[in-house]
Amino acid sequence: MSDRQQLDGTQSEAGPGADVGAGNPDAANADPSAGTPDPERARKAVDDFPIRSSGEDEVTRREFIRYLTLGSGGLAIATTGIAGLTTVRQPAPREPMEVVPVDEIDVGGSYLFSYPTEDDPAILLRPTPDDVLGFSQRCTHLACVVYYDHAEGQLVCPCHNGFFDANDGQVLAGPPERPLNSIDLEIREGIVWAVGGGGH
Ligand code: FES
Repeated sequence: MSDRQQLDGTQSEAGPGADVGAGNPDAANADPSAGTPDPERARKAVDDFPIRSSGEDEVTRREFIRYLTLGSGGLAIATTGIAGLTTVRQPAPREPMEVVPVDEIDVGGSYLFSYPTEDDPAILLRPTPDDVLGFSQRCTHLACVVYYDHAEGQLVCPCHNGFFDANDGQVLAGPPERPLNSIDLEIREGIVWAVGGGGH
């Protein structure tokens, strides 16, 4: 009989204590108190008992799997969140948009419109009869709108005296640190079209 059977109180078919001396020539001299729980022996048996550590192993494995699952779930959620933020921050699609017949803009003048969305103010310049240029009208400092100063060849932000080159939108002076976003333009049969760029 094993220690486990003894601890469980399970008895063999031969009856209590029968296996204590089975095949043992000293069986006849077996301690009559053999069936009585020995606290020290029980403690040692419990210390060595496989179910105890096996049970702990089971708990440890379950906890490991649980933590692994939670960790994987958390990572998946974080990844999904980042992907969602990335999606939210995607620039608005740039659909080609008809703006204005080029002859309606005076040479040296400008025309205000919105592109690529209704919330994106934009400005179209006609510095010479043959040239048209487009920019976001939103100053890159604190988003005031700029105006065209043809005589100076500049786009001017009146809020904090920001100045941009009207040829390419680069910063000339003032607090802005980034150029104005340019808008790609095409002239199709006398009509100015915005076809890309612009926005923030
Ligand atoms: S908002 Fe244009 S210079 Fe400050």
